[in-house]
Amino acid sequence: MKLDTIIQNGRLVTAGETMRADLGIRGEKIVTIGQQLVRAHGNGARLIDARGCYVIPGGVDAHVHLALPFCGTVSADDYDSGTRAAACGGVTTVIDFAIPYGEESLQQALDNWHARAADKACVDYSFHLAITNWARQSKQVEKMVAQGVPTFKQFMIYEKEGWQSDDAAMFSALEMLKDLGGMLMLHAESSRVLDLLIARHHTPAEMKKHGAYLHTITRPNYIEAEAIERAIRWTRETGGRTFIVHMSTGEGADLVKRAQDGGVDILAETCAQYLALDDSVFAGKDGHLYATCPQVKKPRDQKRLWTGLKRGDVCSISTDTCTFNRKQKAMWKGDWTKIPMGMPGLETLLPVVYTLGVLKRRLTVNEFVDKCCTAPAKIMGLFPRKGTLAVGSDADVAIIRPTRKRKVDWRTMQTNCDWSPFQGWDLAGFAEHTFCRGRQVVEDYKFTGQNGYGQFIPRANVGRP
Ligand code: URP
Ligand code: ZN
Ligand code: ZN
Repeated sequence: MKLDTIIQNGRLVTAGETMRADLGIRGEKIVTIGQQLVRAHGNGARLIDARGCYVIPGGVDAHVHLALPFCGTVSADDYDSGTRAAACGGVTTVIDFAIPYGEESLQQALDNWHARAADKACVDYSFHLAITNWARQSKQVEKMVAQGVPTFKQFMIYEKEGWQSDDAAMFSALEMLKDLGGMLMLHAESSRVLDLLIARHHTPAEMKKHGAYLHTITRPNYIEAEAIERAIRWTRETGGRTFIVHMSTGEGADLVKRAQDGGVDILAETCAQYLALDDSVFAGKDGHLYATCPQVKKPRDQKRLWTGLKRGDVCSISTDTCTFNRKQKAMWKGDWTKIPMGMPGLETLLPVVYTLGVLKRRLTVNEFVDKCCTAPAKIMGLFPRKGTLAVGSDADVAIIRPTRKRKVDWRTMQTNCDWSPFQGWDLAGFAEHTFCRGRQVVEDYKFTGQNGYGQFIPRANVGRP
């Protein structure tokens, strides 16, 4: 058998097993896995020596926002820098959210996002769609599913942006997506009480006293928990399927677990920042940089989210990458309600989860692969093309050294951001080599990919982790 590339001598890690084997690539696909592939098929093949390394499936980040118009500006990582960052972080597929603005249809939103990605993406990508006006957009949903977008997000907050959905819209979307074999993704924060708390604290005296810490004071855990409770209720009553995005609280994990045990079809992802950071970051001089919705919570929440990952009630890990640089973040001018919400994350997803998860013995290396690669691919309808190392799968591969650490420094990274939430952290798990559909996009920690190489991956059949 003629092979283009053989990755030899490594330890191949999937969600289910770890084995010493070589991996053979022809064109865009993994075509063989076995022992001593060089002896039988080495003629003309490029050899990559992975001795001492883990060879894992490329990461699947199912929650990113690239070049997102939001909070009065546009997020700083686009399909160029964002997907370069992905490649260097070992992530070979990203799923972004196409969002209609004003009167735009779902089709217009999807076309806009296709245009944004097409010539720039260096790794593969797919889209979710945001439903921002159920009355107008409900009739367009089926057409989106036919174009490879079976997953739809509704926001329980962001009234000012014109993105907010009410309970009737969530209920109706759950019913419709059940019939279409799709899935509803929910941003679960309880807006009325949140608005009340924000109004209560929005005084010059409090802003002077607490600064960015007001982001935490006004978003206690029950803001997320109550919203998840409602989501569970509507999911149960409709028999639909809900995916809670960027879940940040221990209470949320408890509620999801209880609902799952009771037979409700609800899943929840968390993000690397909720596992790695706590809300003490808001007390620092640069506290406003860390503002996201929802915000990072307490150490006890981190602990519960790690437990949830281990037990399975938290099914996957994403980044919610939505990068704003220092100049953009400075738009807050002391008023936390004006901070552009979001931070960079694509390049550090696998290193953060690997270092804090595997090296700290919270997850096995197989669980790490499951949560960052396999489970998101299965849930989002990309498996087995993406998210695993198997004959017939896309040759999306990251090669990582188990204990070699590198210091995070935004200056040496691909992101357009001029700060990192993990600046100065020593992390293992950066990709020494990354392959996306057979093409090497990172070699010796250096980006070697190409704009426009990344392809849109249509999805169907959302699945289970
Ligand atoms: O702060 C965040 N998460 N920004 C992106 C928008 C969202 O809600 O996912
Ligand atoms: Zn959200
Ligand atoms: Zn998001």
